[in-house]
Amino acid sequence: MNDTKKYLITSALPYANGALHLGHLAGAYLPADIYVRYLRLLGKDVVFVCGSDEHGAAITIRSKKEGIPPQQIIDKYHTINKEAFERLGISFDIYHRTSEKLHHETAQEFFKTLHEKGGEFEERTSEQYYDEGFKQFLADRYIVGECPKCQHPEAYGDQCENCGSALSPTELVNPKSTLSGKTPILRETKHWYFKLDKHGEWLKDWIEKGEVDGEKLHEPKSWKKHVVGQCMSWVDGGLLPRAITRDLDWGIPVPVEGGEGKVLYVWFDAPIGYISATKQWAKDNDKNWEDYWKGDNVNLVHFIGKDNIVFHCIVFPSMLKAHGDYALPVNVPANQFLNFEGRKFSKSKGWGIEQLEYLEEFKDFDNKEDALRYALIRNMPENRDSDFKWDDYVDFYDKELADNLGNFVNRVIVLTNKYYGGKVPEVSTDLTARLKEINDLAQKIGKEIEAYNFKPAIQAFMELSTYGNTYLQDTSPWKIWKTEPDSEVVKECLFVCLQIVNLLSIYCEPFIPFSAEKFRRILNLPKVQNGDLATALTKLDAGDVLLPSGHQIGEPELLFVKINDRKDSSRLDIVNRQKEKLAAVLAAEAAAAHEPVKDEITYDDFTKLDIRTGTITAAEKIKKADKLLKLTVDLGFEQRTVVSGIAKQFKPEEVIGQAIVLLANLAPRKLKGVESQGMILMAEDKEGKLSFVQPHTVWENGHVVK
Ligand code: MF3
Ligand code: ZN
Repeated sequence: MNDTKKYLITSALPYANGALHLGHLAGAYLPADIYVRYLRLLGKDVVFVCGSDEHGAAITIRSKKEGIPPQQIIDKYHTINKEAFERLGISFDIYHRTSEKLHHETAQEFFKTLHEKGGEFEERTSEQYYDEGFKQFLADRYIVGECPKCQHPEAYGDQCENCGSALSPTELVNPKSTLSGKTPILRETKHWYFKLDKHGEWLKDWIEKGEVDGEKLHEPKSWKKHVVGQCMSWVDGGLLPRAITRDLDWGIPVPVEGGEGKVLYVWFDAPIGYISATKQWAKDNDKNWEDYWKGDNVNLVHFIGKDNIVFHCIVFPSMLKAHGDYALPVNVPANQFLNFEGRKFSKSKGWGIEQLEYLEEFKDFDNKEDALRYALIRNMPENRDSDFKWDDYVDFYDKELADNLGNFVNRVIVLTNKYYGGKVPEVSTDLTARLKEINDLAQKIGKEIEAYNFKPAIQAFMELSTYGNTYLQDTSPWKIWKTEPDSEVVKECLFVCLQIVNLLSIYCEPFIPFSAEKFRRILNLPKVQNGDLATALTKLDAGDVLLPSGHQIGEPELLFVKINDRKDSSRLDIVNRQKEKLAAVLAAEAAAAHEPVKDEITYDDFTKLDIRTGTITAAEKIKKADKLLKLTVDLGFEQRTVVSGIAKQFKPEEVIGQAIVLLANLAPRKLKGVESQGMILMAEDKEGKLSFVQPHTVWENGHVVK
């Protein structure tokens, strides 16, 4: 391996103010993990960093709401998220924290360097919103109001989560303090601004052409269209200086004169967290962190969700460029959003599932980690929003992992054990052409991963398994073996299949690492190691075999047991419980929903209505009108003919004798040629089912209802 590149892969640092859900996992963590595991299999020098983002208003607001100190909040959620990632196999080399001293120092140094450079920052005194009751300036999420761009009523002071616009608090329409709910006043304060406007020009070249100062840094086509689109609309819209300090007491103190009582803006310090995490990892592993951040050898990739694009493609690169010696990311393969059973994830509405919650509720569910990983990869929101469904989760597992991959592997293992005592057979035929076909399929998987197309990658992986299955089926060695147990054709077939199985056991590791371990055990091979894929691909390329004749494989054991299993429904029951939970949320919502009350009317309007009790005395269908019944209503003092739209639910004979309430002074109206003299009052439920409004006690016809 003569690739001397240093791969630094980052996943967005999650705020330590809440537990991450499956949408986050599919967005920024699982794709990064697949990519990193793949690089490791290729023997690359890679570091995968992440950690908690522990500053910012999101955390202090939660702390105020719950009356818990910020430190306690970040400790809690740091632990929760870190544990969940570990258990789901997200293989960070380090999961750091921005509250660490090392990070504070790193961020302060970064700020000071830019400050001392001159020309990058500017100090500005301006009027900012201030909550008089709480004696606090209202930065970012401390202020809400109507978005000036999309009219969303609850946009934050720094961003509208509805349309994604970056805002400044004074742009909000009808601003309110989230501390007191009151309208804030304006008060003067001083802040440092990063002169982003200076960077527009080179950013444009970089994003559009992949070039900086005439040097080609990446192939612009390799970036996702939606990422480039968002960046260009920003750059073309004109970049403005951005305040990078705040009047808050939680965060990293501004390390220059005049900065007392102020902290760095969370989006200034958080991405620097990638650097501090690398520093800590380097310290712990006897490495030089700068090798992964500086120089031409660096291959930096940021995995994020689409809401973080601007910070990772515009602001942070500008900070790195302004600093001078840092490399820029070669790609920022941002994902779009994952929805959950047709809706947005929403904790308050009980819609969605958190990572740890999944692990706990699926505690007794065999292979829950890979079942989830596989479902999320198959439905990854790579270029558009996608939707997670429990039914897909089951189907993907059963039809693809179990029926395709698992079944192929199992047949090969069973037959090899049966025919050859579990030893890879000897073959004498030339297999070059066959191995080349296999090689081509294998190359496709890698190409997709390298292009950050993880869903197509897993499909390419499955194609390799399908290829094996088809080949095995076409050859049907079991038919030949019956009469010719020593057949060369049978040996060749199983030999080839075993090569494919071996390749699959390596290539599945980035996607489904838990199953990979079992897979290797079945083959009686050690866990896959860094570089194993590179070795395998080199061999394939040279027409060499991967699993040599004579190798003793293990006993047959099912790699994937179906979820929808007739003999044991325990796993399907667990999935169904999730579906029931959602059905309960929907039912509760429907129960709470009601038609809006109509516009107010006056008492005089009401007294205009003449409502009477009555009884239906005759009923018949109306020709060519399947909804209407012609009714005779006895009002005591007179008989009325009323046409009523109840025929779908009531037969004529059912309603004779029915007590009713009639709007008696409604202007007569002809319906299908019959004049209707009034309207019977009906109550309608949510499903549109009608019932008669009727007196509770027996009464006489013709009484006035008021
Ligand atoms: N905490 C941010 C979020 O959850 C992401 C920060 S990414 C980093 O949206 F670059 F700042 F680290
Ligand atoms: Zn908006």
